[in-house]
Amino acid sequence: MAGYLVEDKRKVTTHRLMQMKQEGKKIAMLTSYDYTTAQIVDSAGMDVILVGDSASNVMAGNVTTLPITLDQMIYHAKSVVRATQRALVVCDMPFGTYQTNCTEGVKNAIRIMKESHCDALKLEGGVEIIETVRKILDAGIPVMGHLGLTPQSINKFGTYTVRAKEEAEAQKLISDAHALEDAGCFSIVLEKIPAMLAARVASELTIPIIGIGAGDKVDGQVLVVADMLGMTKGFTPKFLRRYADLSTIMTDAIGHYIEDVKNCDFPNENEQY
Ligand code: KIV
Repeated sequence: MAGYLVEDKRKVTTHRLMQMKQEGKKIAMLTSYDYTTAQIVDSAGMDVILVGDSASNVMAGNVTTLPITLDQMIYHAKSVVRATQRALVVCDMPFGTYQTNCTEGVKNAIRIMKESHCDALKLEGGVEIIETVRKILDAGIPVMGHLGLTPQSINKFGTYTVRAKEEAEAQKLISDAHALEDAGCFSIVLEKIPAMLAARVASELTIPIIGIGAGDKVDGQVLVVADMLGMTKGFTPKFLRRYADLSTIMTDAIGHYIEDVKNCDFPNENEQY
């Protein structure tokens, strides 16, 4: 069934996501960073829109997610919230805004919520940030965790390869996931880890587990919108399915426009006043 035929038009809540897991209904999540894209994504029937800090790569052309600022994330989140009627809007807390101490983390979390009007926040990390996660939750802000490949730690990892293949890292991921659930997180993203490990986490936890490169035995999937629409060319991880080739379609359309302008074919008499 096409997404825009989704019958339940009510705003998606964290409670609804939990129900979906209980009912065995998969959760669809996609990133958006701007008004126009978010409007399309929302009206297609997306459950969750993530204002990811991947905006740093996708929108600003940075090599990593690290440079994006709090102000920039708030700008993107505001644009997405204005466009969204049904989906739950989750905003990433950018690098450096919650790792220093709880007070800073809570202050910045409250600022994002107050200024962007998004519905929830996503933070990368496990036990290292658990006190901050608790305090943000205590402030009444829903938190989504993010474990496995956490791009804000890329300089520590040194590579974007699959995480938690070794037993010790897998065990830490499992205990981090339990710690996040016990703290009160409403969901966790697992990025680029073995499918068996993700399946184990999804079956042990009651909160929904959303995977990206984490196999099919989780409660939902997330992709970066520009990647799945084929707007980005060089990024070809195994987990990425391209649903369109917008890069070719757009280049073609833009090429035609250039041709028409150069050949004095645009505008014609119906396209002027
Ligand atoms: O920033 C982002 O887009 C993300 C997803 C890849 C999960 O965190």
